[in-house]
Amino acid sequence: MKTVDKPEWSKLRKHWEENKDLLLRDLFRQDPDRHARYSIDACGLHLDYSKNLIQDETLDLLEDLLDVVDFERCREAMFSGAKINNTEERAALHIALRSNGEDDLEVEGEKVQALIDVEKRKMKLFCEKVENGTFLGFTGKKIRNIVNIGIGGSDLGPYMVTEALKHYYDPKRPRAFYVSNVDGTNLQDVMENLNLEETLFVIASKSFTTQETMTNANAAKGDVLEHYNGNPEVIASHFVAISTNDTEVVNFGIASENIFRFWDWVGGRYSLWSSIGLSISLNLGYQVFEDLLAGAHSMDQHFLKQPVRQNMPIIMALLGIWYNNFYEWETHAILPYAQHLHKFPGFLQQLDMESNGKRVTSKGDEVSWHTGPIVWGEAGTNGQHAFFQLIHQGTKRISSDFIACLNPQHPYEGHHKKLLANCFAQSEALMNGRTIAKVERELQEEGYSPSEISRLAPHKVFEGNRPSNTILMKNLTPKTLGSLTALYEHKVFTQGIIWGINSFDQFGVELGKKLAKNILAELEAGQINYSHRDFVHDTSTSGLIQFCLDNSDE
Ligand code: F6P
Repeated sequence: MKTVDKPEWSKLRKHWEENKDLLLRDLFRQDPDRHARYSIDACGLHLDYSKNLIQDETLDLLEDLLDVVDFERCREAMFSGAKINNTEERAALHIALRSNGEDDLEVEGEKVQALIDVEKRKMKLFCEKVENGTFLGFTGKKIRNIVNIGIGGSDLGPYMVTEALKHYYDPKRPRAFYVSNVDGTNLQDVMENLNLEETLFVIASKSFTTQETMTNANAAKGDVLEHYNGNPEVIASHFVAISTNDTEVVNFGIASENIFRFWDWVGGRYSLWSSIGLSISLNLGYQVFEDLLAGAHSMDQHFLKQPVRQNMPIIMALLGIWYNNFYEWETHAILPYAQHLHKFPGFLQQLDMESNGKRVTSKGDEVSWHTGPIVWGEAGTNGQHAFFQLIHQGTKRISSDFIACLNPQHPYEGHHKKLLANCFAQSEALMNGRTIAKVERELQEEGYSPSEISRLAPHKVFEGNRPSNTILMKNLTPKTLGSLTALYEHKVFTQGIIWGINSFDQFGVELGKKLAKNILAELEAGQINYSHRDFVHDTSTSGLIQFCLDNSDE
């Protein structure tokens, strides 16, 4: 087992050895108050974590891991704007974007609230102008479509939110489209049905150098210029940018007054709370964006102030550590029983895996314990008809988060109770399973012969004991979505601290980007560069490039 070499971790290892065969159904039988004891209500969310393989002692021992890393000091450091992203020498101060300003935070002597307020006012004003028709397309047409061109954190967050809160959309506002992939079909599919004279392109990129985003942005600019016979004046009416890199934005041709800014202390995957949320405000109204921030702020306060046993993000983080580092399960499923949350698992993949997919500590030493899990998922009930078979009866163990809303956002009668019934039934089935004795009895009652029973019974057994959390909210509102999203951010942060890694850099995405540049040059030149000293391809890669050069139509 790969765990940290510290007495607190050894105690947990021993506790795990002694209790690894515990059955959840027995724990519930022994303690009828288990749900009440292992649930938390805060920020419009109800977390039921009673269906986990834990007892009080497990939580006590897990809590001790926080002391090992001086967790309170680390949390304080994040909230006070210290440069906790030590490799990039940056603060990770996304909490300031949703703060009410009372904490008066500073980064390098500069008061951040004043900076944030300027950008927020600008966003609000701009949204009003688009909505009331003061900001128009070049030919005087109302903006009816916005296309957010960005990738990673400059796409996943706003895209997830506009999908999740679709039911807040009012047709008086522009529709929102998202283009992220450098596969041109993404841009083509979006452009196909748009009237360019009614379209605003929002180029969202912290660096304004990301290959995918700049390729799509330049192609969109090309289409717009072509439509207007090359008149460069049209850019001001159809393009705005969200970035930290003014120079590159201006080089692209976007006027300085059309830049919405944010700062290097906002990480890409934490940027939806900044002006990167412009597409949310344009599409759903600025107030929705403000409410989203308010929901996240209430979770920030909860995370900062509540004791561990009442602290949702910390409890979820500790449970994740329990399965990741002691049971050594590799993956964690996110299962929103809400169609509008269908982009949520994808958003969490970047949040969790880009943050905690690290193999060295903040100091650069190789870890000898597991770090971030593989995060994946799909909206229920669709997942039930795809991969649930493996979760229930496969040999791999998977912990899950079920997420559901008590009230529907549609008028159809009968759907919602079915949706909720499926959500609750799945976690119940995963936990209780179905024993062989029960299966045999049921088959007998159905009239099967003894030989048929012994043939079929093993296939119908559910081992159970598969743990899960369930997060419920009354309605999927901007506030509850803000709280839910911040909940996961703080869970990921807490785990990163316990693992001793820097959750705020992402060097793992760089090597592939660099190699792609060289290969692109070769594809464009029509030949492999065998004289390149630093990048000599293996025969598989050179074989693939050569196959492509020999066989593609271009
Ligand atoms: O995937 C790497 C990454 O740097 C992410 O962290 C970031 O969200 C994304 O690329 C996009 O970067 P940018 O906003 O600078 O275009």
